[in-house]
Amino acid sequence: MPESAIRLSFVENDVAVLSIDLPGKGANVLSTAVLEELSAHLDVLEKRTDLAGLVIRSGKPGTFLAGADLREFVASLGAPKDRIAAMCQRGRKLFQRLSQTPFVTVAAIDGVCLGGGAELALWCDRRVMSDSHKTQFGLPEVKLGLFPGWGGTARLPRIAGLGNAVEIITGGESITPDAARTLGIADDVAAPEKLDAAALAVVRDEQKSRQFLADRQRWSGPIAISETELAFLGATASGYIQQQTKGQYPAPLAALNVLVEGATQTAEAACEAEAAGMAELFGSPVNAALLNVFFLGDRNKKDTGIATDAQPRPVKRVGVIGAGIMGSGIAAAFVRREIPTAIADAAPEALARGTKLVLEEVSYNKHLKGVDVERTLKFAPLVNATTSDDELAAADVVIEAVVENASVKRQVFGRIEAKLKSDAILATNTSTIPIAKLAEGLKRPEQFCGIHFFNPVRKMPLVEVIRGPKTSDETVATAVALAKQIGKSPIVVNDGPGFLVNRLLLPYMNEAVELLLDGAKVEHIERAAKAFGMPMGPFTLFDVVGLDTAVNAGLVMHEAFPDRTVVSAVLPTLIKAGRHGQKSLSGFFRYKHHSSKGEHDPEFDRLIGPLLRETKPLSRDDLTNRLFLPMVLEATRVLEEHIVRDVRDVDLGLIYGIGFPPFKGGLLYWADTLGAAKIVEMLKPYEALGTRMQPTTMLLEMARTGGKFYRP
Ligand code: NAI
Repeated sequence: MPESAIRLSFVENDVAVLSIDLPGKGANVLSTAVLEELSAHLDVLEKRTDLAGLVIRSGKPGTFLAGADLREFVASLGAPKDRIAAMCQRGRKLFQRLSQTPFVTVAAIDGVCLGGGAELALWCDRRVMSDSHKTQFGLPEVKLGLFPGWGGTARLPRIAGLGNAVEIITGGESITPDAARTLGIADDVAAPEKLDAAALAVVRDEQKSRQFLADRQRWSGPIAISETELAFLGATASGYIQQQTKGQYPAPLAALNVLVEGATQTAEAACEAEAAGMAELFGSPVNAALLNVFFLGDRNKKDTGIATDAQPRPVKRVGVIGAGIMGSGIAAAFVRREIPTAIADAAPEALARGTKLVLEEVSYNKHLKGVDVERTLKFAPLVNATTSDDELAAADVVIEAVVENASVKRQVFGRIEAKLKSDAILATNTSTIPIAKLAEGLKRPEQFCGIHFFNPVRKMPLVEVIRGPKTSDETVATAVALAKQIGKSPIVVNDGPGFLVNRLLLPYMNEAVELLLDGAKVEHIERAAKAFGMPMGPFTLFDVVGLDTAVNAGLVMHEAFPDRTVVSAVLPTLIKAGRHGQKSLSGFFRYKHHSSKGEHDPEFDRLIGPLLRETKPLSRDDLTNRLFLPMVLEATRVLEEHIVRDVRDVDLGLIYGIGFPPFKGGLLYWADTLGAAKIVEMLKPYEALGTRMQPTTMLLEMARTGGKFYRP
């Protein structure tokens, strides 16, 4: 007999409590087995006429219910529509019983309450929430290409109002306990240790007032909203969603339709429409791709980065050398997580500028939309700005982010290593220079690695932890744990030019320039990349990165891979004309100010015109294939060279590092949906362009054997 996940107890004789606590799991999820247990408990409790109330809570402090069991979802991806609709109806009818009991039902929510967990809570008559920072309520199904399927789209608009439900369900973002109370989703908010008492108090109130019975009646009918209001809400939300999703994510619009249609029906009919709608989305390519992305993230959270059981060292203080764009961003990331940080720079004015950036960033309050003095007072004591290396001596980890120049970096390491504690870790934020090269001359190369952040640090979740030939497991484990401590998603990669992400980005950027030289228009190339799903086109990206930086990175890659990196005069010509990208207000585009959108610039055409080759007709497919297939080819080389430990790191790295479209599931996930044989076919028309467009040994072998990148 397996251990039970739900325990029944009585807080007082007439108030039952069901505590959900999946044995051996960190979080509660609603698997079929758990739903069956809930059903069995309700079978017994529903018959009792002596009860005043039922409280549903979690036995795991800080996590209520994380949602449905997504592994069961994956197993059902190919199921026929009627089975999916039946699955939805079964779950919903079970939860619905919580709104039909002879007594009041109350969900006591401490910690995450998401997806199916939020739907269970919504079917209860009342909800109380803890004020813990871990408590959040949300229906994030759209992020998986779905919408709530256990009655959430019928229940939430009836409790919180249609407009609020549209925002929560189509946006998929969680809300705080306070917001939930304002919207009428939470009836009370209390400290975690007072939550059970708050739930009991609600039971006693309802026992007297019987208000829950009136609400049950009200919430089973249509929503009180005028036709005009409904039409207006539908039209504005639809416009907004289409603008946000660009037709690439169908779930939010489908959710809106179900919400709007269900508004004028009974809750029962709305639930039936919901199940039918879910059956359409479930198992779609976007749903399957987004489930893959979910599992990439989940795997990453559990990954220690190493194959041994070496333990990360505790990190209490860090040091950052170089207070430029990256150094200040990195320092801010630590300070925000309350880790004391020394930040050093050789130039006093650069240090002053960088430190100001750190303080501005950590003091920003998104509600005030500006600097929050209280935050400044809290965080400022954690920042130690210095021009002296001596102040870094107390750090457990020091990250170097000075200019991209191997000899300058080596000088810094030579100076600093002797001053550090013997067990301190030294790391570099270099974006291209091999770790092995930088480790030469170090006394403790085993305590050296790359910790490569992406720009802007505040926004980009990826960190590449780069293992040099001598880096120890303990060092890697510490770097991985530290990155996670500040909320980043680290992947461990082996040393090599461009490491993982920049190496895969280069063929794409390189090909964009080649397409331009072959006569494609900048706007057409940009549009093709965006239609594929990239957050910005390659030329906008060039301008954001800076053309000087891009040339340097290109040279490193050309030196390493001359057979497939084409050298052209495009970037040098633009740089020579003073066009360094967005920072100089001109590059491939011109800019009115540093953060404005790029505009077409006739001066650019004049400069580039003489470089263009004979124009060839290029279709949209040519543009897409030439931009993205070389990335797949480079990924096969990266896998063959064991730069990554798993194909999943390639996909996570590109999604989190450059915004590769999540709805495609990841580069190699996407490649698998095409199949290696088809990719080989797609490459054929471009064979004459050389190695960069010719299938690799690995791809040919996969095409021959029907192999996939993702093996079960
Ligand atoms: P930056 O030019 O903004 O900042 C470099 C800072 O280092 C300057 O403030 C400079 O005064 C200081 N510095 C130079 N020599 C020094 C020395 N000997 N001792 C102490 N400080 C010194 O450069 P950025 O963009 O922040 O890049 C820093 C590192 O991060 C480079 O290795 C770069 O490749 C890497 N990186 C850059 C990214 C980007 O998008 N900018 C992205 C990821 C990595």
